[in-house]
Amino acid sequence: MMKIDILTLFPNMYKGVFDESILKRAIDNKKVQISIHNFRDYSLDLHHKVDDTPYGGGNGMVLTCQPIFDCVKKLRTDKTKVILLTPDGVLYKQKMAYDLAKEEHIIFICGHYEGFDERIRSICDLEISIGDYILTGGELASMVLVDSIVRLIPGVIEEGSHLNDSFNGNLLDYPTYTKPRVYEGMEVPEVLLSGDHKKIEQYRYQESLKRTKERRPDLLD
Ligand code: ADE
Repeated sequence: MMKIDILTLFPNMYKGVFDESILKRAIDNKKVQISIHNFRDYSLDLHHKVDDTPYGGGNGMVLTCQPIFDCVKKLRTDKTKVILLTPDGVLYKQKMAYDLAKEEHIIFICGHYEGFDERIRSICDLEISIGDYILTGGELASMVLVDSIVRLIPGVIEEGSHLNDSFNGNLLDYPTYTKPRVYEGMEVPEVLLSGDHKKIEQYRYQESLKRTKERRPDLLD
């Protein structure tokens, strides 16, 4: 079973996210074990302080090393991948989700406030950003990663149902339809009703290609 530990100052943010749908089922079926740790509990400071003012001056507070270092030291083994969520990390892609789904144990560290002590990077194997925008902290990013990784663990969703995901083979998804055949005058493409599997496959590939060219030409480079 894959183990995921999340280090955060806001454990309540995770309530609900892991309690619904596919993630809940994956946890119930022991495909993954997810634990949330408030690293404030690891602070040796009398008042459980986790941040301080930046050396050299500047705005805001900076997360200190000690609580996060001690929490990671307690949780990590020689098989652990420690991942820091930060907007200056490598941009997250589906390929990385496939790689991370093979890990035995992942620790996610959520940064917060105006920043964290640079030395925290020294205990991380990987730094990931989920996009070129700034969140208030790494929590939402860690949820995105957990969701995208756990669905790829074998047995979590029907085998093959992620084979056609957008981004596999660098193409966006083809259009899909369900009943009724005509809705508000909009018809389901004839080829999908033909029963000709070869033709359908060709149609879908062409539509994927067309959509990718129109919307995400960068994926074809
Ligand atoms: N923390 C703040 N913004 C982030 C982002 N875009 N990705 C990952 N972690 C973050």
